[in-house]
Amino acid sequence: MFYEPRLGHGLPHDPFKACVAPRPIGWISTISREGVVNLAPFSYFNAVLDFPPTVMFSASGPHREGGLKDTARNAEETGEFVYNLATWDLRDQMNRTSEAVLREIDEFDLAGLEKAPSRLVKPPRVAASPVQLECRTTKVLALPTSRPDIENRVVFGEVVGVHIAESILINGQVDLTLAKPIARCGYSDYAVVERLFALSRP
Ligand SMILES: Cc1cc2nc3c(=O)[nH]c(=O)nc-3n(C[C@H](O)[C@H](O)[C@H](O)COP(=O)(O)O)c2cc1C
Repeated sequence: MFYEPRLGHGLPHDPFKACVAPRPIGWISTISREGVVNLAPFSYFNAVLDFPPTVMFSASGPHREGGLKDTARNAEETGEFVYNLATWDLRDQMNRTSEAVLREIDEFDLAGLEKAPSRLVKPPRVAASPVQLECRTTKVLALPTSRPDIENRVVFGEVVGVHIAESILINGQVDLTLAKPIARCGYSDYAVVERLFALSRP
């Protein structure tokens, strides 16, 4: 099939997200100017640069009171966020933190997650996650919207601190089969990393 998104796909469900999959999940913790901690998953997330190590996530949603999704707003206003690796063991807690709740609600508490303090930035880390990246916001882009009721923000951040659990470091390498990251596919589907294969570059 072929379709132009602006004209519609004609399928029961939008296939777009299944066409770019699996997508890593940026489980992003932030803290508001008022000091309220926030945690939410973003699958429009990726690592985009090595020098300096940089990640991005994009938040998209209806205009509501106060505007942007809390995560994007906090990362822009305070200049800091933390990426936490979402894993198979933490899948239910990750999902719980996607609930649209009041800005005053701390999603760590909502999902029963323990906080670990960060070293260089204020937002806390998800203690049970085996990898966390402390980030400083470097750029925020407001991308064009095709729906006037929806606001788009892409947030880039430089990774200034990296935490890796000793339990997944084997012979100096991160063993992802031990961490079991989960990733977003289309519809309600997820993927889990359980098997790796290696290729040598030509
Ligand atoms: C796995 C998963 C991935 C998500 N990815 C995104 C995303 O990339 N962009 C987005 O705007 N919302 C995404 N969401 C929805 C947000 O997590 C949700 O709107 C959340 O309430 C935002 O929280 P906040 O307002 O505290 O930032 C995703 C939800 C789940 C469960």
